[in-house]
Amino acid sequence: NLPPKVKIVDVGPRDGLQNEKQPVSAEIKIGLVHRLQDAGLKEIEVTSFVSPKWVPQMADNAEVMHGIRRKPGVRYSVLTPNMKGFEAAIAAPREEWPDEIVVFGAASEAFSQRNINCSIAESIERFRPVVAAAREHGIYVRGAMSCTVGCPYEGEIAPSRVDMLAGLMKEIGVQHVGVADTIGVGTPLKVQRAIEATLKHYGVDDISGHYHDTYGQALGNTLASLEMGVWQYDTSSAGLGGCPYAKGATGNVATEDVVYMLHGMGIETGIDLDRLIDAGVYISEALGREPNSRASKAIRTK
Ligand code: HMG
Ligand code: MG
Repeated sequence: NLPPKVKIVDVGPRDGLQNEKQPVSAEIKIGLVHRLQDAGLKEIEVTSFVSPKWVPQMADNAEVMHGIRRKPGVRYSVLTPNMKGFEAAIAAPREEWPDEIVVFGAASEAFSQRNINCSIAESIERFRPVVAAAREHGIYVRGAMSCTVGCPYEGEIAPSRVDMLAGLMKEIGVQHVGVADTIGVGTPLKVQRAIEATLKHYGVDDISGHYHDTYGQALGNTLASLEMGVWQYDTSSAGLGGCPYAKGATGNVATEDVVYMLHGMGIETGIDLDRLIDAGVYISEALGREPNSRASKAIRTK
């Protein structure tokens, strides 16, 4: 009883590029968003409204949101950690607002401090007005839950921590949560335990998987999540990325690899794999490297 269809959110323009040391122009980012939507992606995480001192690569957030050509049926999401970020995200005319915002918390205290400079409890109090304001504006609210299996500072994270965080997210009105393996240390059964903890608070239709591939476990973790009925995943074109506050963590699982696996299992995504591969080649060329996707490489060298 695997889900017959999967929705993929390509987080490459945000999660993928936030960690890049070399400058990437707004024009290139916009070009990536356009290629992803033309490949059939139905949701794209475009940028984040965070402090430019903390994440310089996302400083062009407003310019990127302004520059994208909206495609009907595609949702555009952005990260907003506090009211300042939310206000910046809606400072533009309504047609440039995000469809969805993401507040991002952690199941690990140490990671919360390093990533957003506050405790888990404080983060929830910062998110509370953001969630309320977004919902008043008709903007959907997703919550990212970092370090649901492991933390770069605290090591292994117990499912009870995930249970607690998911409960807090629910309490403040977050509509959907992403179970993130921020540093890619998770293995299938551990990821299933994190999802089980989340299922105490959210239905399976309101949960997504967000797996970094540092240890090569992300496809296995995706399959383990599919077996639990989870049908929404964040992935990154060309396997771009990492989190600047999670040392050593590499990118999200490559969208190309996940799409190849799903199509091979007869699961629909609505994505054209060839066009997706082209999008990954486009951004990788701009960065001067090869796409970090085995499926992309195999298909291009066939
Ligand atoms: P802070 O220093 O505690 O914030 O940072 P503050 O409210 O004390 O403000 C300090 C300064 O930042 C002020 O400026 C504010 O105006 C400014 P100053 O007066 O010093 O010139 N500021 C802002 N500027 C722009 N946009 C804002 C904003 N807020 C404050 N929204 C803060 C707290 C959350 C802002 C900071 O820690 C931050 O920006 N962190 C972002 C970290 C980040 O983006 N990490 C990566 C994304 S999360 C991720 O990758 C994980 C995920 O993929 C899931 C997974 O894999 O786990 C989602
Ligand atoms: Mg991430």
